[in-house]
Amino acid sequence: MKQAVMEKPGNIRFDEVSATPPGAGEVRIHVRQIGICGSDIHVWHGSHPFTPYPVIQGHEFMGVVDAIGPGVENAPPLGSKVTAQPQIVCGHCNPCKKGRFNICENLKVRGFQADGCGREYYNIPAERLVLLPDDFSADQGAFVEPVAVAVHSCNRAGDLSGRNVVVLGAGTIGNLIAQVAKVRGAAKVLITDLSDFRLDVARKCGVDVAVNTARESLEQATTAAFGDGGFDLAFEAAGVEASLGSAVKVIEKGGMILIVGVYGKPPVVDMGVVGEHEIVLAGSMMYWRDDWVEAVSLLASSISIAPLVSRHFPFAEWTEAYRFIDSNGASSMKVMVDLPA
Ligand SMILES: NC(=O)c1ccc[n+]([C@@H]2O[C@H](COP(=O)([O-])OP(=O)(O)OC[C@H]3O[C@@H](n4cnc5c(N)ncnc54)[C@H](O)[C@@H]3O)[C@@H](O)[C@H]2O)c1
Ligand SMILES: [Zn+2]
Ligand SMILES: [Zn+2]
Repeated sequence: MKQAVMEKPGNIRFDEVSATPPGAGEVRIHVRQIGICGSDIHVWHGSHPFTPYPVIQGHEFMGVVDAIGPGVENAPPLGSKVTAQPQIVCGHCNPCKKGRFNICENLKVRGFQADGCGREYYNIPAERLVLLPDDFSADQGAFVEPVAVAVHSCNRAGDLSGRNVVVLGAGTIGNLIAQVAKVRGAAKVLITDLSDFRLDVARKCGVDVAVNTARESLEQATTAAFGDGGFDLAFEAAGVEASLGSAVKVIEKGGMILIVGVYGKPPVVDMGVVGEHEIVLAGSMMYWRDDWVEAVSLLASSISIAPLVSRHFPFAEWTEAYRFIDSNGASSMKVMVDLPA
C-alpha cells in the first residue's frame, strides 16, 4: 500500500509499505477519502506548534472495515462504512477520570502527534470506530469529524432554543456551528467573515444572516439583524484577536462566548469588560464520542455539506491539493483527497 509521509513542512513523500494485519483489539480500515482542514494546512506550512515531523497526516476520513483483529467484540461486518475518532487518551489523568477525555492531560491526536489515516490501510483500536449508515457518501463520512467539533461547541453552550446567536468566522467550522445552532432551535444565526465567497456558502447552507465585517462593524450588523433582542451567545471560530475583541465589546451583558478558534498568537482581551459585563468565556476542544454519534445523525438528516466542498484531488496529488488551498484560500473551502478504491 501507499502511505503519505510529510517529511518536513511542504514535503510529502509517498512510501510503498506492506499493510499490517490489525493487532489485538484493532480493526483495519480501507481508507477511501480524507478531508483537509486548517490544522493540516498549519502542519503543511510548519506553523503547527505541536506537530513533530515526519508525520502521517489525516484525521477526517471515511473508509470501510477491511479486517478485524483478535479479541474485538461486536465488530461491524467487513465492508461497513466507518470513520474513527483520532484522539489517543491516557485514561488516568484527572480530566480522564472525570470522563472528559477530550481534554486529557496527555492527549495525542492522530495526524499530529501520532500517525493519521493518510494511507490506504489504517489500523485503529476498535473502540475508536464510528459506524456510518450504508448510504453515506464519502464526503459525508469525511465530514463527521468537523461536524462533531460543531456539536461539541453547541453542547458547551447549553440550550440554544429561541436564542439569537453570532458565529465569528465562516470557515468550515463556523459554517457547521451555525448550521448545528439552527438545528438546535436558535431563533436567528448571524455569521461573519471577511470572505464574500465563504459568506455566500453560509447563505447556501441556510444560515439566516451573513455579514462581511470588513465592510460593516459587528455592532451595526447585530443591531440590524437582532434589533432590541440583542444576542447573548457567540462562537469565536475565526481564531483572531479582532473578531474575539468585537464579540466581547458587542455581546449582551451576561452573554457567553465559546472559544473554538485556535489563536496563532495569544489574543489581547479586555478583561475589564468581561468582568463588568459578567461575560462567560468558555473553551471548546474537539469532542466526545456522543458528539460523533450525533454528528452522524445530523449529517444524515439536516446538515448541508455540498456547498462546502470545493475540490477533490487524487491521493497521489496531496501536495497539489495543498498548493490549490494556498492559492485559493478565501475562494475555497473543504478540499478532499480521494484514495484508490
Ligand atoms: N476547538 C476545536 O476543537 C477546533 C477544531 C477544529 C478547528 N479549530 C479552529 O477553529 C478555527 C476555524 O476552523 P476552520 O477550519 O473553519 O478555519 P478557517 O481558517 O477555514 O476559517 C476561519 C475563518 O475566519 C475568517 N476570519 C478571519 N479573520 C476574521 C475576522 N476578523 N472576522 C470574521 N472572520 C474572520 C477567515 O476568513 C476564515 O474564513 C481555526 O482557528 C481552527 O484552528 C478548533
Ligand atoms: Zn480537522
Ligand atoms: Zn488523560
